[in-house]
Amino acid sequence: MKGIVFTLLEETIVDEHGMDAWDRILEEAGLDGVYTTLGNYPYEQLVTLLQAAEPVVGYSGRRAQQWFGRRALHRLADRYPELFEPHTSTREFALTLNDVIHPEVRKLYPGAEVPTFALDEDPEDGDLSLRYESERGLCSFAEGLLLGTGDRYGEEIGVQQPRCVHEGDSYCDLVLTVEASTSREAHARG
Ligand code: HEM
Repeated sequence: MKGIVFTLLEETIVDEHGMDAWDRILEEAGLDGVYTTLGNYPYEQLVTLLQAAEPVVGYSGRRAQQWFGRRALHRLADRYPELFEPHTSTREFALTLNDVIHPEVRKLYPGAEVPTFALDEDPEDGDLSLRYESERGLCSFAEGLLLGTGDRYGEEIGVQQPRCVHEGDSYCDLVLTVEASTSREAHARG
């Protein structure tokens, strides 16, 4: 996993809880915390760090991953606004994940190991199902990234996971529903 993900976690913890909290998390995780954005590190270290961070952030397990995904998305969007500007909604953005967003990520971070999503739109209600395909099992991190994207576009979105490998299913399905939109564009569209 690219070091950028770890530096985003460090920034988030330090901003919200202070440097001492990050030092305590590293100590608890038994890691030295030396990450460079373009370096490669085992993704398991992210799982370990998030477990060690549980008492600090107040969430555990999948919710801790989701918590971090949401915050990481905001930090990525601040760094790369050009990836978000062409779109006006989470759904539209999510539809470009495989073909635009993550390929761009691989240009910025050569060697990045990104997931793919098999996308399926429900023609009736417009819900978008994203079948998460990755060996890393970070579906809750993906949920958080989607929720953060919703924040970015001023939408109130829901993400359900009717299937999950951590619950014994053979794959993870993330279903995105848009509850409400508060964005100016959406108001203008009526
Ligand atoms: C809804 C939006 C997004 C979702 C659901 C998503 C999902 C994910 C997930 C789940 C991973 C962890 C790796 C894995 O599970 O195999 C990942 C990795 C990553 N994503 Fe995304 N992503 C999103 C948007 C973005 C954006 C906007 C950026 C950057 C501007 C980005 C950059 C990255 C990077 C740098 C990695 C790490 C790759 C590596 O470790 O080698 N993602 N993404």
